[in-house]
Amino acid sequence: MAEAVYPVSAEWARDALIDEGRYREMYERSVSDPESFWREEAQRVDWMRPFTVVKQTSFHEDDFGISWFTDGTLNLSANCLDRHLAARGEEIAILWEADDPSTPERRITYRQLHEQVCRFANLLKSKGVRKGERVTIYLPMVPEAAVAMLACARIGAIHSIVFAGFSPEALAGRITDCDSRIVLTADEGLRGGKKIPLKTNVDEALKECACVDTVIVLAHTGADVHMEDGRDCDWASAAEGQSAECEPAEMNAEDPLFILYTSGSTGKPKGVLHTTGGYAVWASMTHEYVFDYKPGQIFWCAADVGWVTGHSYVVYGPLMNGATTVMFEGVPNHPDPSRFWQIVDKFGVEIFYAAPTALRSLMREGDEWVRKTSRKSLRLLGSVGEPINPEAWGWYHEVVGEGRCPIVDTWWQTETGGVMISPLPGATALKPGSATRPMFGVQPRLLDSDGREIDGAGDGCLVITDSWPGQMRTVWGDHERFFQTYFSTFKGAYFTGDGCRRDEDGYYWITGRIDDVINVSGHRLGTAEVESALVAHAKVAEAAVVGMPHDIKGQGIYAFVTTNAEVEPDEDLRKALVAWVRHEIGPIATPDVIQFTPALPKTRSGKIMRRILRKIGENDVSNLGDTSTLADPSVVDSLIANRPQPA
Ligand code: WT7
Repeated sequence: MAEAVYPVSAEWARDALIDEGRYREMYERSVSDPESFWREEAQRVDWMRPFTVVKQTSFHEDDFGISWFTDGTLNLSANCLDRHLAARGEEIAILWEADDPSTPERRITYRQLHEQVCRFANLLKSKGVRKGERVTIYLPMVPEAAVAMLACARIGAIHSIVFAGFSPEALAGRITDCDSRIVLTADEGLRGGKKIPLKTNVDEALKECACVDTVIVLAHTGADVHMEDGRDCDWASAAEGQSAECEPAEMNAEDPLFILYTSGSTGKPKGVLHTTGGYAVWASMTHEYVFDYKPGQIFWCAADVGWVTGHSYVVYGPLMNGATTVMFEGVPNHPDPSRFWQIVDKFGVEIFYAAPTALRSLMREGDEWVRKTSRKSLRLLGSVGEPINPEAWGWYHEVVGEGRCPIVDTWWQTETGGVMISPLPGATALKPGSATRPMFGVQPRLLDSDGREIDGAGDGCLVITDSWPGQMRTVWGDHERFFQTYFSTFKGAYFTGDGCRRDEDGYYWITGRIDDVINVSGHRLGTAEVESALVAHAKVAEAAVVGMPHDIKGQGIYAFVTTNAEVEPDEDLRKALVAWVRHEIGPIATPDVIQFTPALPKTRSGKIMRRILRKIGENDVSNLGDTSTLADPSVVDSLIANRPQPA
């Protein structure tokens, strides 16, 4: 069957920043002469001291290193705020919509945001926060989260945001790993009418973190929370007394900007470290070109600032470009499934960017929720975080966008800092389900499992062969792990962990993770993390976790569990284990299926055969492949015979 192709409309080709000819010319130059390309492109940043060196990068073991614009200096908060004050100080920087539609929205101008950031930066300084120090942020989706990020950037502190849906356990691990002395939080978060006890979670986490001596607490819902004498202080009253002026610190391009923890295929989550200059160039360039962003447009990225999408496309990218960025505290289906589109109408949103999982959950509620809103302001739609299935793509395009808005399906990762493969709306004909073509400077290659390059159309492991400015620079505290994780599988290349197909037109189709990482509702989880949570339970002897197809979430979590000998597994234990994993990691890690089994399929040398478990998780047991190395083949038959039905 021929694939559907949606050509660029004449109007988009005419009005967009980048048309097909320009894409080809710029892409070609970005890879044939990166020095001159990036020297030019980096002028979008206001440098304090201009750089002379553009790029010093190698993915090879003997001279491994990644640095961009090394001798330049800048301040990212000044790039997001100060430089806009003269021309657009009274324009709206952040448009905030509360969880409850009856709560008034907040409209914060660039001038107001600048003032709040300066006051908060001074507050951090008064608490002794210095350049290079780590500040943990555990906040709901409120403008103060952006204030906190920008205040850190202003004084050169490194922020580490922990998504407010993570448990106290997960928070404690992340605070300890980066040895953070200060935590910024709120009394409570609010999502879909439900309160999230953020301060209580922090108190719980801090029982395990000796390093923290300061907690700043935002009164958000007004709940009465415990305040620890000498450690905790109230955000508003402490910030109020501070000066509204704070000189931005002069930072080197390669000084760290933030750490963001993400799951890998082994061990505990790793602290992905991004630095200042290259990230600034990448976030603002991709925001401008991928979304065809022009000053004055209302831009809404519906991601949480707890994920990289929120870092790059709620805060840094849009604010660098002087945009009005929408920030939404709530969830797509509260109070009803029209909410997203009501917000689009309320604010006149022109560019809307969300994850397929949200779209699928709205799609099943029926078109009426969409159709009863206007959406006439929309001109461009974006998708991020997981493959978008053609059905959801079609619904997004026809129902939400009424056939008028191109969809940019953007492939990237926490590690890449910003969009890597995506259509440009004025240049790229769309194919539903394909992220299409590489961004400037990105050189994707497909390799087979022996590391041989696949030319032309084909399927393989997706690697990137040269550095780009937004690339992560290290794993916090473990540079060796950085090299081992990304650069040792295929020599001289960055390994993404994704499988990918390239078609005859050179379009890329991401097929999903080929390591032990699963993608649940656009959130990344390591199967090893869920396994270690399960085996930490007193009644569990062994656990193996795999992904399974899930209509809404993309992938669900399927856990095989062997209990201790004296334990009789039953429904109560199943419920207890589900609650346990939620408690250990957070609700995003809730197992969808737990299958108790007296044994796991292992090779004679004792290695769990995950390939077989994956097939059982997928309910695709007709072809299990080679099972001859199994120590006890009957284990597999019994697993298949006793496979529970997903709830
Ligand atoms: C993984 C990265 C992108 C920022 C948010 C998620 C998957 C991401 C797409 C897409 C197919 C995608 C990949 C990737 N992914 N975008 N457009 N099409 N898959 O960042 O948590 O670091 O996860 O998400 O598997 O490796 P992340």
